[in-house]
Amino acid sequence: MAGPIGPVVGVIGAGQLARMTQQAAIALGVELRVLANSPDESAARVIADVRLGDYRDLATLRDFAKGCDAITFDHEHVPTEHIRALAGDGFAVHPGADALVHAQDKAVMRERLTAIGAPCPPWRRIATVADVEEFAGENGWPVVLKAVRGGYDGRGVWVCRSAQEAAEVLATGVPLMAEAFVPFERELAVLVARSPHGQGVSYPVVETVQRDGICVEVLAPAPGLDAEEAAQAQRIALRIAHELGVTGLLAVEMFATASGLVVNELAMRPHNSGHWTIDGARTSQFEQHLRAVLDLPLGSPSMSAPVVVMANLLGGDDPDLFSRYEHVMAHDPGIKVHFYGKEVRPGRKIGHVTAFGDDLDEVRARARHAAVYLSEGVYT
Ligand SMILES: Nc1ncnc2c1ncn2[C@@H]1O[C@H](COP(=O)(O)OP(=O)(O)OP(=O)(O)O)[C@@H](O)[C@H]1O
Ligand SMILES: [Mg+2]
Repeated sequence: MAGPIGPVVGVIGAGQLARMTQQAAIALGVELRVLANSPDESAARVIADVRLGDYRDLATLRDFAKGCDAITFDHEHVPTEHIRALAGDGFAVHPGADALVHAQDKAVMRERLTAIGAPCPPWRRIATVADVEEFAGENGWPVVLKAVRGGYDGRGVWVCRSAQEAAEVLATGVPLMAEAFVPFERELAVLVARSPHGQGVSYPVVETVQRDGICVEVLAPAPGLDAEEAAQAQRIALRIAHELGVTGLLAVEMFATASGLVVNELAMRPHNSGHWTIDGARTSQFEQHLRAVLDLPLGSPSMSAPVVVMANLLGGDDPDLFSRYEHVMAHDPGIKVHFYGKEVRPGRKIGHVTAFGDDLDEVRARARHAAVYLSEGVYT
């Protein structure tokens, strides 16, 4: 194969985020290279330049990075010290280790957000049941215990109602922190992008709906959010991106409570709460991330319809998703279907659908119909 025609962006990890980034890379003439664990992974199936290897091995990462104009990530699990080593070699790694550690380690994130005055729930690093009891004495039960590193889709989050429940979680031996249980009204997310030269852009604030710890639905913009609170959420997210020196995308998950906004956690890559932007914004989050990591001017985050709803497809019992396209597409020609080319397993995120229009209830019902039918083959 001849050499690359455009800039080369190396993505460590080959899941659905890298796969969807490829769509944006095609339009921009950017060449993506992915580091995959296996040729069967979601992104490895659609990208020409696939390298196989272990992202925990520095020599593999160094070899992978050679010839890349920028390096970025599909997940948060690359050891922080390896990211630092790659930057030390002169590679342009976005986000850098000093920023990314705040998305890798929830205790480091809480320390930093507290220091810059971003709104957080009461929290503490804990090691023993006595620590949890002391924390509960000050903040009440339930106490939310969280794995400091490595959690996702709610795995690594335990709502404990007693010292006994906390003891069971502590017995697993994973490093933990405690947070006060936030009685939130709903969950919001703000997606911003920041480029190495410091330009920042914010997408509209969205509402995320979770079931069993997994995001199932995203409503854009967050229904009924008043303009002042929306602007405040965007200011908090842009400020975090600036203070932490984030380069690329930053998703800030927040709780909306009766007494204001509280930050839940951070992600520094394309995020499930931003999948709606592929069909529903002028610039998709995937294009925005590529622009940011290549230090290009950022694109418009404005919406292409008044209301956009994204619903995740979770695997059901019947693996043949494709056989259900006909009904969904005939039922609603306006629905956009995104399938990640992953093996269908019950409960696994395998794709999403997007609907857009003028009326929230109508758009939401359409997205839900398509998602439920594609996942389960029935609509009840
Ligand atoms: N302090 C809290 N109080 C109440 N609910 C909480 C608290 N922290 C987390 N939750 C609930 O648990 C969910 C998962 O928490 P969190 O986002 O920290 O975990 P995660 O597994 O890293 O998530 P993700 O899937 O976004 O990576 C939140 O979306 C929220 O519904
Ligand atoms: Mg989360």
